[in-house]
Amino acid sequence: MNIILLGPPGAGKGTQAQRLVAERGMTQLSTGDMLRAAVKAATPVGLKAKAVMEAGELVSDEIVSGIIGEALDALDVGAGVIFDGYPRTAAQAHSLDGILSDRGRTLDHVIELDVDEDALVERITGRFTCATCGAGYHDTFKQPKVAGECDVCHGHEFKRRPDDNEETVRTRMAEYRAKTAPILPIYEERGIVSRVDGMADIDDVAKAIDAILD
Ligand code: AP5
Ligand code: MG
Ligand code: ZN
Repeated sequence: MNIILLGPPGAGKGTQAQRLVAERGMTQLSTGDMLRAAVKAATPVGLKAKAVMEAGELVSDEIVSGIIGEALDALDVGAGVIFDGYPRTAAQAHSLDGILSDRGRTLDHVIELDVDEDALVERITGRFTCATCGAGYHDTFKQPKVAGECDVCHGHEFKRRPDDNEETVRTRMAEYRAKTAPILPIYEERGIVSRVDGMADIDDVAKAIDAILD
C-alpha cells in the first residue's frame, strides 16, 4: 500500500504519517524531513536547499525527486510508503509515476487533508519536535504526556523549525495554492483521491484515514 498525504503546511501530514508508521509499520518519506537532515549535515543538497526552505519556497523538482528515488531504494518499504510533502508540483507528480513504476509499485490512495488556512498559522507557530527522535508536538493541541519529556524516547530536548514563523508560513501557503493544489486533478482522474476533514481532532482525523485504508 502506497499513499500520498496531501495538504498545506500544518495540515497534519507529518502527525498522521508518524502514527501510521507506529501503528502499521509503514515507511514515512517526508521530503521536508530529508531536506532538513541534509541541511543539518551540510551535504551538497543541504547547502542548495537551506536558503530556499528558510524563505518558504520550493526546492527544485530535480533535487526532491532524486532524494525520493534514493530513499525508496535504501529503505525497507515492505509495508508500504507514506509520501509526506511529495509530490508538490505537476513535474514531481510525473516523476513519482516513473519512480514507482520502475520499482513495480503503484499508488493506492491520495488523501487530501482539508483545512481552514486561518487555523494553520496557530498550528505551525505552536509546533515543536523532539530533538532526539523527531516526534511531533504542539503547545496547545499535543503536549507531551509528562511536561518536558518526549512520550516516545523520553528525551528532554525539543526544537522548533526555522521556517515556522508567520511570514514564512504565508509564503509556504501561497506556494501550496499555486503549485501543489493544482496536481489534485491528476489523481482525481484516476479515482484515488479521498478527502478528510483535517480540522477535526487528531484522533478523529486518524480514524477517518484508517477508514480509507482498511
Ligand atoms: P515540509 O516539511 O513538508 O513542510 P510543510 O508542507 O510546510 O508541512 P508541515 O510539515 O509544516 O506541516 P504538516 O502537514 O506535516 O503538519 P504537522 O503534522 O507537523 O516542507 C518544508 C520545506 O521543505 C518546504 O517549504 C520546501 O522549501 C521544502 N520541500 C519539502 N518537500 C518539498 C518538495 N516535494 N518539493 C519542493 N520543496 C520541498 O502538524 C502541524 C502542527 O499542528 C503540529 O504541532 C501538530 O501537533 C498539530 N496538529 C496536527 N494535526 C492537528 C489537528 N487535527 N488538530 C490540532 N492540531 C494538529
Ligand atoms: Mg510535516
Ligand atoms: Zn523523542
